[in-house]
Amino acid sequence: MSAPLQADQGTSYAGILGIGAYRPARVVPNSEVVEAIDSSDEWIQQRSGIKTRGFADDSETIVAMSVAASRDALAQAGVDPRQVDCVVVATVSHLLQTPSAATAIAHELGTDGAAAFDVSAACAGFCHGITLASDMVRGGSARYVLVIGVERLSDITSRTDRGTAFIFADGAGAAVVGPSDVPAIGPVVWGSDGEQYDLIRQREDWRDVIASDAPVMPHLTMQGNEVFRWASFSMAKVALQALDRAGVSVDQLDCFVPHQANNRITDAMARSMKLPPHVRIARDIVDAGNTSAASIPLALDRMMRDGDARSGDVALLIAFGAGLSYAAQVVTIP
Ligand SMILES: CC(C)(COP(=O)(O)OP(=O)(O)OC[C@H]1O[C@@H](n2cnc3c(N)ncnc32)[C@H](O)[C@@H]1OP(=O)(O)O)[C@@H](O)C(=O)NCCC(=O)NCCS
Repeated sequence: MSAPLQADQGTSYAGILGIGAYRPARVVPNSEVVEAIDSSDEWIQQRSGIKTRGFADDSETIVAMSVAASRDALAQAGVDPRQVDCVVVATVSHLLQTPSAATAIAHELGTDGAAAFDVSAACAGFCHGITLASDMVRGGSARYVLVIGVERLSDITSRTDRGTAFIFADGAGAAVVGPSDVPAIGPVVWGSDGEQYDLIRQREDWRDVIASDAPVMPHLTMQGNEVFRWASFSMAKVALQALDRAGVSVDQLDCFVPHQANNRITDAMARSMKLPPHVRIARDIVDAGNTSAASIPLALDRMMRDGDARSGDVALLIAFGAGLSYAAQVVTIP
């Protein structure tokens, strides 16, 4: 008879213990992007809500921005880097195919050789990472997990593409997930719709780029209208399911923190969910643009700094994007 194996023992509950952010020093107003796309400040604000965005310089690498955001999150959580058992990095703009950004970040932070890997779930990546981290803590494979959302979308966005040039931007956000005495990360509602695989994508794959006579960086393309409709209608239902799975009503909600894709998508979701007026809604997109995997932790960080999200508040997170992929969960603000 084979010997029984020992199983990991985790904690009953997990929660977010700290949040951190890094915003690029260079703030780019609409006036700097309009000429190349024959647009206007007024059009961009009206259609997306965006006034400015951050574009990273050469020194603000994926690793450097992640390390800065992570140090903030670890300090807020009161967790030493050597206590981190796993680093999960959500990104689509780490331009080295291998190795992952996560191992470099884990090393630079001074973890004690923490497990480290990247997750590719586009704008939904941070909420995927929070789910993995929560399950690791509860399952026993890690006690403290660092979840990072980081992008340099300015590297993979065409300055002359009218549908994306004014939207995508750069930055990093991080969260420390660890044991909690009470449930502080609710059940995830997540999924994908591969039938709409082409709606947001890298234009060509690397083999086609290399085979071309004049290779250029393959840029992101987006069918904005279709994405807008999908996000505005389908994602409100997912958000309501996440509330239901957590046993929280819209009246009990304090903060709504959707992926910062477009202010009009956020408005449509809030209307469709019938969010009461007391619910504070993240609007980080106005200053930060759409930073894909970084957008939710950046928005959380701003709300916490501005006093719009207070310790103990109940917040609904929902992230969605290329794939199409999505993930939503209710969390307690640390
Ligand atoms: C990109 C987006 C803002 C475009 O807005 P829209 O209202 O769908 O715009 P349309 O493509 O229908 O174009 C409407 C008009 O604006 C014009 N237009 C398009 N892009 C423009 C730009 N950058 N500046 C000025 N005018 C523009 C079009 O030519 C069109 O003009 P017409 O009515 O004279 O033909 C919108 O589709 C969107 O936000 N989609 C979701 C994107 C998103 O959030 N993605 C991230 C998900 S992770």
